[in-house]
Amino acid sequence: TNRTFTMIKPDAVGNGHIGAILNDIIQGGFKIIAMKYTSLSDEIAGQFYTVHKERPFYGELVSFMSSGPIVAAILEKENAVEDFRKLIGATDPSKAEAGTIRNKYAKSIDANAIHGSDSDENAEIEGSFFFSAFERF
Ligand code: GTP
Ligand code: MG
Repeated sequence: TNRTFTMIKPDAVGNGHIGAILNDIIQGGFKIIAMKYTSLSDEIAGQFYTVHKERPFYGELVSFMSSGPIVAAILEKENAVEDFRKLIGATDPSKAEAGTIRNKYAKSIDANAIHGSDSDENAEIEGSFFFSAFERF
């Protein structure tokens, strides 16, 4: 087994989808290792997304991610990173497969309901950004 990191983004929290999304995650076979309900300042969101600093949408992404509360979690499953990206669907929800979290709960490419790490290395970096060792089950 291995781990991935996720955030339920401000749009999905604001639209009341926390419960439904957590249910999809658990029914998808993922075990919750750590979880917190919090919000990100502009500065913290900017740090989290430094990998995207040079991309044209960086400013929008950072201000969106600090626009309201989020749920951050570390998840465990065999093949966690790849399987979780399948469960959430394509970045652009209009291209996300039916039944995926983004297909069901996201409205646009910038407000796309959920984050999933894109590699084992980034999963570890992102999980450690939010959780100290004693906060992980
Ligand atoms: P994450 O799981 O959130 O990392 O999404 P991703 O891996 O599917 O996409 P990527 O890492 O390439 O982009 C990170 C986030 O930036 C996306 O989830 C979107 O919210 C946002 N994003 C990506 N492309 C665009 C874009 O063209 N415009 C805007 N406004 N936001 C974008
Ligand atoms: Mg990404």
